[in-house]
Amino acid sequence: MSMTRQHLSALTVALATPLALAACEPSAADIADTDQAITSAQITQVYSNGSGSHQTISTTGNVDPNNPFFLSLGTNGRACVDCHQPAQSWGISPAEVTARFGTTGTAPIFRLNDGANAPNLPVATVAQRRSAYSLLMNRGTIRVGIGIPANAEFDLTFVEDPYHFASAAELSLFRRPLPSTNLKFLATVMWDGRESVPGNTVAQNLNNQANDATLGHAQAATPLTAAQRQAIVDFESALFTAQITDTRAGSLTAAGATGGPTALSAQPFHIGINDVLGADPAGTPFSTHVFSVYDAWATQTGSTQAAARASIARGQNIFNTRQFNISGVRGVNDAIGVPNLAGTCTTCHDTPNAGNHSVGLPLDLGLTDPDKFNIDTTPRYTLVNKTTGATIRTSDPGRALIDGKWAHVATFKGPILRGLASRGPYFHNGFAATLTDVVRFYDTRFHLGLVQQDITDLANFLAAL
Ligand code: HEC
Ligand code: HEC
Repeated sequence: MSMTRQHLSALTVALATPLALAACEPSAADIADTDQAITSAQITQVYSNGSGSHQTISTTGNVDPNNPFFLSLGTNGRACVDCHQPAQSWGISPAEVTARFGTTGTAPIFRLNDGANAPNLPVATVAQRRSAYSLLMNRGTIRVGIGIPANAEFDLTFVEDPYHFASAAELSLFRRPLPSTNLKFLATVMWDGRESVPGNTVAQNLNNQANDATLGHAQAATPLTAAQRQAIVDFESALFTAQITDTRAGSLTAAGATGGPTALSAQPFHIGINDVLGADPAGTPFSTHVFSVYDAWATQTGSTQAAARASIARGQNIFNTRQFNISGVRGVNDAIGVPNLAGTCTTCHDTPNAGNHSVGLPLDLGLTDPDKFNIDTTPRYTLVNKTTGATIRTSDPGRALIDGKWAHVATFKGPILRGLASRGPYFHNGFAATLTDVVRFYDTRFHLGLVQQDITDLANFLAAL
């Protein structure tokens, strides 16, 4: 469905720019061959997905397919859109990436620097490329390379990398692209907040992020101009994406529901809004009623469609109100010195109707424990605390690679929960293949005691966001 929606300019750029590619990289002709144009209609069209359809709107009407977001601005043929696709709510999915591989594996997303399991793998033949890009195709993850910072409170004492590349100078971290939409609600930029500089506005951080993405992912030799950065940030910041229809419940804006991107775009936000620990600068006390999108559906009865709507409303109610014991979460329990905190999904997912954490607090849900969450064959790292000698074995040290803090090992931000149905798998590492798997993870991790109907309702609700 979306496979042909690549970016517009590769043909032009591949012809105009000498491509500084490694010897085994695809030729310029291959790149031009596998790229297709995107049209402005494709930016805002309704895309079907596993549980209905989703749509993107632009609040400024800026849907120019010649925006630099869609252009190859580096040396390897890549544009932002290669990893931020409108059909996947501005992320990517394993199925469509695999379809993009086709029979050649030369489309711009297949580049050694960060598309491959390691940058030193052989990619001369199709079979070698299929193997080198297996994590990208299986999990939809990109390799983020970050070294141990000089001020780290820990040492990296042991590396298990099946691809024989990672070291203290550059750990290989396999992470899902975060959607480049609904950015109005960001409290912090990137899973580990590394693009968020204290004192900067989110817009300034996004401005730097656009440049860093071009230098990194697209391997540009020179920084973007100020005008290019601004054009990218103006474009992406105007986008709002949400599920718009549900296969069983029908229109998500019918019968008083306020689903879809238009209502989302009107949702107020400021950093700290509705924070449970009292960080809201507006001083408004925390409310667990974070999602109100499906309030009007709580009383639906009768038809099959009404039953589907009632299920979504019950799922929203579980998300807002079901209490469980939050324990062992680095960033919460240790930070506030409360080993057991009675909370809800909304304790962390506190931004009204967007669902991300409204503060940039990095948290460890335990998803990087390689013994519990054995995700394909990704590298594992053993870290030792320089002071206490304590040890952690993790697939991704997260925020700790940015600020060096032991307390931040394996911590990540709480992401925006809209447009979910079209962009699985979920979590930073793609551990949960489906939204039902997400719900099962939480049920097990925090002993929610959900019955089958609760699991179905909560997954139906998440899919309707
Ligand atoms: C090769 C794939 C790839 C390309 C190309 C790419 N990105 Fe990303 N993007 C990612 C990944 C992976 C992440 C998450 C990485 C992390 O957090 O460590 C991300 C994160 C982001 C985020 C952060 C969203 C949030 O919730 O914090 C924004 C915004 C973004 N990208 C915009 C862009 C722009 C603009 C471009 C082009 C200049 C671009 N990306 C090019 C893969 C890519
Ligand atoms: C203790 C804080 C906390 C609680 C409680 C919590 N979450 Fe999360 N949630 C997070 C964090 C942090 C992440 C990102 C974790 C990662 O990828 O490592 C996340 C990720 C997610 C994602 C994946 C989004 C994506 O883009 O991949 C979904 C869906 C989600 N949570 C739903 C829920 C539901 C449903 C509940 C209640 C059953 C819940 N969360 C409770 C903190 C929390």
